[in-house]
Amino acid sequence: MKRLLMTCAAVAGSASLLAAAAFAGPTFDDQGRIVIPQNMDRWPTVGTTYALQYEGDGGMTLNTVRLDPQSYDAYVATGVFPVGAMLQLEVRLPVEEIAPAKGGKTQGTIVGRSLHVKDEKAGPGTWTFYGYGPDAATGNPVPRSQACYACHDEHAGETDTVFMQFYPTLAEARAKAANAPAAVK
Ligand code: HEC
Repeated sequence: MKRLLMTCAAVAGSASLLAAAAFAGPTFDDQGRIVIPQNMDRWPTVGTTYALQYEGDGGMTLNTVRLDPQSYDAYVATGVFPVGAMLQLEVRLPVEEIAPAKGGKTQGTIVGRSLHVKDEKAGPGTWTFYGYGPDAATGNPVPRSQACYACHDEHAGETDTVFMQFYPTLAEARAKAANAPAAVK
């Protein structure tokens, strides 16, 4: 095994292999809080939206959605989110005209972050939202009575409650996986 790993490392490049091997899905403390994963800024970005208003207030933010690397690879190969998949939504205020920009908007400070996790805590295939503050080590589960679940169910229920209509890379990968010969039943 060791020799195999070394051979792979030589081929794939040891840094990327180690990074992939170090990731092990979500972990939880004994209160059911999720341990906030490290290095989420290195996760592949699957969506960027601006001023996507859907909750009545605010909405003029720049949002970034990232997917953990292992689930990204699995999704591209199969078009299905594996159990343990984690998506992060990062919400930033827009800033304008930082030189040399004339007009336009770029990312400012973070005003909100949350995770959407296929943790099956409410039965097979279910997801849970977790909110967390700046520098928090853990995130609390959002109660299922909150509007988050209803909106995601209603408008993204056919895509595993994930807003695939805003994530073109994943949507394209899903279409490709569905058409791949291996997926033909
Ligand atoms: C009225 C609809 C609506 C409600 C309510 C809502 N969301 Fe979302 N959510 C969206 C849309 C649309 C996106 C697409 C990405 C974006 O906002 O940039 C999204 C994306 C997300 C994502 C990125 C992963 C994914 O599933 O697509 C997370 C995480 C998330 N929302 C968390 C929450 C949490 C936590 C709450 C409740 C506190 C919530 N949302 C309430 C509509 C909603």
